[in-house]
Amino acid sequence: MSQANTIYLKDYQEPDYLIPKTQLTVEIFDDCARVSSRLSIKKNHSGERRELKLNGENLSFISVKYVGEESIAYDLCDKYLTIVPKSDDFILEIVNEIDPKNNKALEGLYQSGDIYCTQNEPEGFRKICYYLDRSDVMSSFTTRIEADKVDFPRLLSNGNLIDSGEMTGDRHYAVWEDPFPKPCYLFALVAGDLAKVDDNFTTKSGREIALEIFVDHGNEDRCEHALESLKKSMKWDEDRFDLEYDLDLYMIVAVDAFNMGAMENKGLNIFNSTCALANPDTATDANFFRIESIIAHEYFHNWTGNRVTCRDWFQLTLKEGLTVFRDQEFSADLNSRAVCRIEDVRALRDSQFVEDAGPNAHPIKPASYMEINNFYTPTVYEKGAEVIRMIHTMIGESNFQLGMKKYFDLFDGKAVTTEDFVHSMEVASGRDFKQFKRWYSQSGTPTVQVTSKFDEGADTFTLTFTQKLKNKSDQVYHLPVKLGLLDSNGEELELIMQGKSFGTETVLELHTDSQSFVFEGLKEKPVPSLFRAFSAPIILEMETKREDLAFLLSYDSDSFNRYEAGQRLAKLEIESLCEALRDNKVPQVDHLVLDAFSKLLRSANADEAFKALAFAVPSLVSITEQQKEFSPVIAQKAREILSHALAEANEDYLAEHFNRYNAKENYVFNAENMGLRSFKNMCLHYLLKLPKADYISLAQDQYDTANNLTDRFAALQALLQTQSTARDEALEHFYDLWKDDAIVINKWFAAQAGAPVGSSDQLIKKLENVEAFDIQNPNKVRCLYGAFAANLPQFHKEDGSGYHLIADKIIELNSFNPQIAAGLSKAFKKFGALKGQQKDFMKKALEKIIAVDDLSPDVYEIVSKTLK
Ligand code: ARG
Ligand code: ZN
Repeated sequence: MSQANTIYLKDYQEPDYLIPKTQLTVEIFDDCARVSSRLSIKKNHSGERRELKLNGENLSFISVKYVGEESIAYDLCDKYLTIVPKSDDFILEIVNEIDPKNNKALEGLYQSGDIYCTQNEPEGFRKICYYLDRSDVMSSFTTRIEADKVDFPRLLSNGNLIDSGEMTGDRHYAVWEDPFPKPCYLFALVAGDLAKVDDNFTTKSGREIALEIFVDHGNEDRCEHALESLKKSMKWDEDRFDLEYDLDLYMIVAVDAFNMGAMENKGLNIFNSTCALANPDTATDANFFRIESIIAHEYFHNWTGNRVTCRDWFQLTLKEGLTVFRDQEFSADLNSRAVCRIEDVRALRDSQFVEDAGPNAHPIKPASYMEINNFYTPTVYEKGAEVIRMIHTMIGESNFQLGMKKYFDLFDGKAVTTEDFVHSMEVASGRDFKQFKRWYSQSGTPTVQVTSKFDEGADTFTLTFTQKLKNKSDQVYHLPVKLGLLDSNGEELELIMQGKSFGTETVLELHTDSQSFVFEGLKEKPVPSLFRAFSAPIILEMETKREDLAFLLSYDSDSFNRYEAGQRLAKLEIESLCEALRDNKVPQVDHLVLDAFSKLLRSANADEAFKALAFAVPSLVSITEQQKEFSPVIAQKAREILSHALAEANEDYLAEHFNRYNAKENYVFNAENMGLRSFKNMCLHYLLKLPKADYISLAQDQYDTANNLTDRFAALQALLQTQSTARDEALEHFYDLWKDDAIVINKWFAAQAGAPVGSSDQLIKKLENVEAFDIQNPNKVRCLYGAFAANLPQFHKEDGSGYHLIADKIIELNSFNPQIAAGLSKAFKKFGALKGQQKDFMKKALEKIIAVDDLSPDVYEIVSKTLK
């Protein structure tokens, strides 16, 4: 049993010392790396000189001295190197060694395959050398790397290459200089034998930027998409945000062992290879899309993250929420805005809403943490982006852009807070966001209850909004409600309030716990369409008749709300089916529901990409989150009953349209083709709900003949719903084909671990023993154990076997990669919702983890909060 310290935002203090200049020499040897640093240090306040405490963890200390002097008094412990400076301005020279080869936590400098790379955000730099490892200490870095020429032909760091050359004994060196001062979390170093694929981009002011991607030899043909995405990102940031790239070189390195998706190090991004590499044979549409958005995300950080950075890690959403908002807007501008919004909200609800309702709920700006690595969460990222989006919705695009200009005018080159950002928006828009800032400090998803009243004689329609807050101490939020009203023909009505027209769509703002709005001049009772485009991250509670939901599914002009109406309708139906199952009655699917969805499928005013989303039944997570009693097994059954009924009712249509779109054209990645493929594969998926050999052959045929992974993998997933020899054959074939490919084979693990049929703790124990598995690789852990833990009926199996399997893996991972172990520990988030024996089983599993001797603060924080 271990313990961890809690760190509080309210305790923040400015650094006592700054480090204006950092010169590093990193010598890579066979059995270690030697780091010599030369730090120019300056006192940062006018008071008395205090001691200087440099962070340093897992370092072999060798020496410390003032430049030009022999020795110095110091104090060394496992977390700090402390000295008492003799002046206000001095240069320290420190030498230490590290062991990148045995660094399995993948923080600091570590080995991935045969190459050396770094991950320093948030606090990895202290595992490279002694330093003030905090984001408000910004320094100009010069980095010299020395290594063997044959093993490490590429030596990379941030900024510009200013010198390189040969040394004696088969060694060589490179010197990099980054002209932009930065916190050490943005420092990067890469050394290895990598292939380079390059391109270039001319900025709007006419500067030529060299773009370079470094990958393992053999992967050169998987770089084109990342390069195209990068150029699109650079252009988009110029067009929409008027932001231009600032160095002459932009490098991206893809590595297989990486804890997260990617990292925005200045001028030298490091990517998890799954988030960068793609070609039609090795990546699906979803992968292509995700790569485009992550490349964009890291690129956009250059301004929102690097040029303006965070004062401390409590401010993480300052750069992450804003940058996610920017990458979401980029994807929406380049693809279908409607589809992007639906998918973003779906992801938000399935991960962030669940987090906000669980034991590890926290505000987007947490007030405290034990381990900051645990706060790279859907809340800080995705809810953070929703908070930015609300500001954008309330002040509009042009004021928002003025706010961004203000932000850079005031804070370029600085480490700042979320208040600084909101201040910029206030100044630019003339608005007061004092109350709005509660979104930063309160956790939990608020509920907005809406009631309506139509007054026939007066021709008025009144909407009343009431906020229901999550925590006792919460105060009401300031939030935007984008809305419209529809007449009985599905036409948009003019919105008139207090004699003034607001067109057919407007944004209302809520400030108080209960607020009413009266719409005038209405001859008939309208159907309201509220929170269009999901204008606020809330749970809407409103009694709506099934007929009205079906009506909105057909007619709402807001695509998101059209989708939403269908989902709400399907959820009502699934709820009824769950009840029937609980009462041992024969479940019957409501005809109104089947008709509404059948009509949508045939609708002329919706494209295929939209239909593929809107015709899909709600996710299991979104269903179980609304259950009074958490029971994924029943929810899954009900979901299948509805899916089956939808397939049966539309069998001919689905079969015909599957065939119509099953053209064998060359794979092209664009929004339109992606939409067509997802529609076609949705048809296939439904057809395999029906027990017919013909449909299995259809899937088998697509699997065998597909000319791209999107179709091939969709066929495999369709087959995974069945128990058939075709399923087994396809799985075997896929393994033989891709077992040596680190990226593609992970999909094989994830698909089986997450399958509705055939997954089990026994299967996981079989899969972890296949040659292609490796528990030290985070992607594989996520794809096998992560996918299993997200497979709710399996993970929550009655006998508790799922809990114990995952607990054992957490304990194993804790000993070498705490961050990944902690990530997996979040699987136990439904603890509070469980009852009886099920709860006892989970409790035992959690207690087994908490009893581990050298439990990391990462895992301790998650598990202790879960048990509370
Ligand atoms: N800043 C990176 C990104 O959002 C993520 C780095 C996360 N690192 C971590 N150790 N959790 O692009
Ligand atoms: Zn980010």
